[in-house]
Amino acid sequence: MSGARRISILGSTGSIGRNTLDVISRQPGAFKVIALASRSNWEIIAKQAKIFKPAFVALYQEESASMARDLLKGSGIEVLGGIEGILEAASTDRADVVVSSIVGAAGVMPTYAAVEAGKIVALANKEALVAAGRLITEEAQRTGARIIPVDSEHSAVFQALMGQDRLAVRKVILTASGGPFFGKGRDLLSGVTPEMALDHPRWKMGPKVTVDSATMMNKGLEIIEARWIFDIPADGIDVLIHPQSIVHSMVEYLDGSVLAQMGVTDMRIPIAFAMSYPHRLDLALDSLDLTAVGSLEFHKPDPEMFPCLALAYEALERGNGIPAVMNAANEIAVESFLSGDLPFTGIADVVRAVMDDPPDFDDQTLSGILRGDRLARTAAREFITLMDS
Ligand SMILES: NC(=O)c1ccc[n+]([C@@H]2O[C@H](COP(=O)([O-])OP(=O)(O)OC[C@H]3O[C@@H](n4cnc5c(N)ncnc54)[C@H](OP(=O)(O)O)[C@@H]3O)[C@@H](O)[C@H]2O)c1
Repeated sequence: MSGARRISILGSTGSIGRNTLDVISRQPGAFKVIALASRSNWEIIAKQAKIFKPAFVALYQEESASMARDLLKGSGIEVLGGIEGILEAASTDRADVVVSSIVGAAGVMPTYAAVEAGKIVALANKEALVAAGRLITEEAQRTGARIIPVDSEHSAVFQALMGQDRLAVRKVILTASGGPFFGKGRDLLSGVTPEMALDHPRWKMGPKVTVDSATMMNKGLEIIEARWIFDIPADGIDVLIHPQSIVHSMVEYLDGSVLAQMGVTDMRIPIAFAMSYPHRLDLALDSLDLTAVGSLEFHKPDPEMFPCLALAYEALERGNGIPAVMNAANEIAVESFLSGDLPFTGIADVVRAVMDDPPDFDDQTLSGILRGDRLARTAAREFITLMDS
């Protein structure tokens, strides 16, 4: 790469954010950190700032911002607070690449701001495209912003499409690990605890995406993400369970060729690729040892065990803001499950109920979608309270 790429990381304290900083620390001179942003984790972000010396950090919670300000006094690093600070990190002139790795719909506005500012957006925050995919991709076309996926599945598809004839694509096949409950029998699901759901067999990730993997809502969100990133209709996107997580996804072409991307399960690979595209960095990771893996298995997902997959296909088909409604209801349901207020199987029930009686809102504007997100959250909370009583 010629010259250091200037990077802003939204969600630097999370799992993707920390992996991003790990990639940067292994590539002296390749990147310059301009901004770090998170919600409230002031001690961690201040530590990161002392190491990576960004121009500024931003914390969504004002009280956390003032704690970080105290810790960074005299360092010359500015500390911004509130949504304005996060949006500044997303759109600052000083950065070339914005790593969008806030979790949940909280990432919608910052991702839109990065796209509006014409950035290269290394996108992990799939919820932004689920809630506002049309608006974000249209804005990217207008500004020339480039969205490069960080999700390992979408990175695989992106790579399998490189240099190919887009008109010759028959379908995209997203692979899924199946999470901790694949192959264990449906009876087990009613007794699943947060601890069991958070014990992912292949990937170490933040709690929300780990629970989404266990319900397979993660794959549902990824179907919608793929629809927007690759402009492929729902019926051109299939899902296969691949417990070894070695084949990260595939593209099938009209001539019957199937191009797959493989690699060890390490998020630093797709993160680095998104930040350095079209160049590849030497990450000095262990090679993939296929003889140690032995065999690669593929299975069709069981729709009764994983009802969230069908909910996502349905949301995509229905359009009209329903994906944003689905996403918001899922976020509330996952939160309630993690705090012990909802059984694991209740997650799909809450999403189903809110999608069956969706709030009315304008899905053609960002403010309309954010309003729809809020209304769907309220509806989900009300449904959970009713379930309890
Ligand atoms: N983890 C993975 O391996 C993986 C793989 C593929 C895709 N993804 C996607 O990447 C995204 C992040 O996942 P993760 O696993 O890294 O999540 P995580 O570990 O829970 O981290 C979430 C990050 O978002 C920040 N955040 C939350 N709300 C915010 C707000 N209102 N304003 C600013 N920052 C906010 C958090 O800050 P605080 O720490 O201050 O709360 C934290 O830095 C998700 O969309 C997920 O689906 C993750």
